[in-house]
Amino acid sequence: SLPDSVVIVLFGATGDLAGRMVLPAIHEVHSRGLMPAHWRLIGCAADQLDDEGFRDRVAASLDGSGTGRPADWETVRSSLRYCGGTFSAEDPGNLPRTLAEVREELVAESGGEPLVLHFLAVPPVAFTPIARGLGAHGLADGARVVFEKPYGTSLESFEELDAAVKEVLDEEQIFRIDHFLGKEGVQTIYVLRFANQLFGSEWSRASVDQVQIDVPEDLDVANRIAFYEATGAALDMIVTHLFQVAGQVAMEPPTDLRDPASVIAAREAVLRAFRPLNPVEDVVLGQFEGYRDIEGAAPDSTQDTFAAVRLWVDTERWRGVPFLLRTGKRMARKTQRITLVLKPPFGPLADKLDAPNTIEICFSGDGEIQLGITVKTPGPDLSYSSGKAVLELDDVPGGDPISPYASLIHDALIGDRSLYTTAEGLRAAFAAFAPLQGPERPDPVPYEPGSWGPEEARRLAAPHRWMLGE
Ligand code: BG6
Repeated sequence: SLPDSVVIVLFGATGDLAGRMVLPAIHEVHSRGLMPAHWRLIGCAADQLDDEGFRDRVAASLDGSGTGRPADWETVRSSLRYCGGTFSAEDPGNLPRTLAEVREELVAESGGEPLVLHFLAVPPVAFTPIARGLGAHGLADGARVVFEKPYGTSLESFEELDAAVKEVLDEEQIFRIDHFLGKEGVQTIYVLRFANQLFGSEWSRASVDQVQIDVPEDLDVANRIAFYEATGAALDMIVTHLFQVAGQVAMEPPTDLRDPASVIAAREAVLRAFRPLNPVEDVVLGQFEGYRDIEGAAPDSTQDTFAAVRLWVDTERWRGVPFLLRTGKRMARKTQRITLVLKPPFGPLADKLDAPNTIEICFSGDGEIQLGITVKTPGPDLSYSSGKAVLELDDVPGGDPISPYASLIHDALIGDRSLYTTAEGLRAAFAAFAPLQGPERPDPVPYEPGSWGPEEARRLAAPHRWMLGE
């Protein structure tokens, strides 16, 4: 349930992620009336600013993000504080003092102890020093701590980071964010499956030929080249977002959909059934032409800007059904879609149909469900056409789609971890991904910017094709 009061300590408060995602999401949570009655936000970052300077920055971020400022901006503005400079185990800066002051204010206002929510919108190298600092200065007790992705970049670095964090925090205090799990279209998968016989009954190898989870992006990487050179598309997207979405699609029904622990257990059990990737058979990496000319890229860089993988989920439900995951930068367009490609029907029309039935969930923006179905082509003759039945989630009566970060921040405030990843789940994801980080990793194949990626990726989808594009 929602506490009466909360202090959100936002590390990286003047950074790109805070400005684009976290601050607008906090605004959304507040404006929807989902924030505790009494709240303060303490921004922490290296920049030397005073409270007023930080408040102006927040105003500029909100204006720039397109959300604008909340209607009660003057009140919100006065709820913002700032602590500049370093924060680590050795050097606590001003944070302990500011937090104590703010706490006192909130106790006076609400009569009870506030929840403390630390939000680490910082690069991964800063996770361990900040966690240690929280421990060293007594700021971790009873607090919840949200970690941005990536929480580790390999099985080994994940284990190391998690061990350091666990010296300070219990698993129940740790909220590892993967904002794809907060997307409306991804959250709707549970309900689509478990509340509809029509879909629930088809959701297995008995009816499904293959599953495609396709996230092409038209974005460039020039403004994040240092990050990209160190990361690449597969590590940035597949082991994190796309594996989690695959888990959501493939999981068994939880015993209780309203019990976070049983939802997590179900999603993460299936991550443990992901077969380690076979880099030779099941992976195609790509690099868009011109990538190496970007300032900051190595002239002989073999970093991947595209990745397509065929993942095998070794559960009774999915044995033999390939999960095809694809993503890349500078592709033909940006969209995000799960497609269940259904097996052909039996009977007299079986060989007369040109398109398979599909169940599609578009999970960009507000989300949309599409069904690819075959009908009689309207007209005098008997012939067949495939068409799409479309349900936009923002057209659902009473619906008011929430953005992924706002949804997840609200969950952290009420202590619901069902859409956060646990150590067990991430360990399984990194273990399945590990072969792609070893000597068998294939070299990326060049592809034309604005295309659907290298031709080679087509073979992974055979005997079907990638449902998007082409
Ligand atoms: C981020 C990745 O986590 O997700 C980016 O680092 C990617 O590379 C982004 O573009 C996609 O997020 P969204 O909100 O556009 O689905």
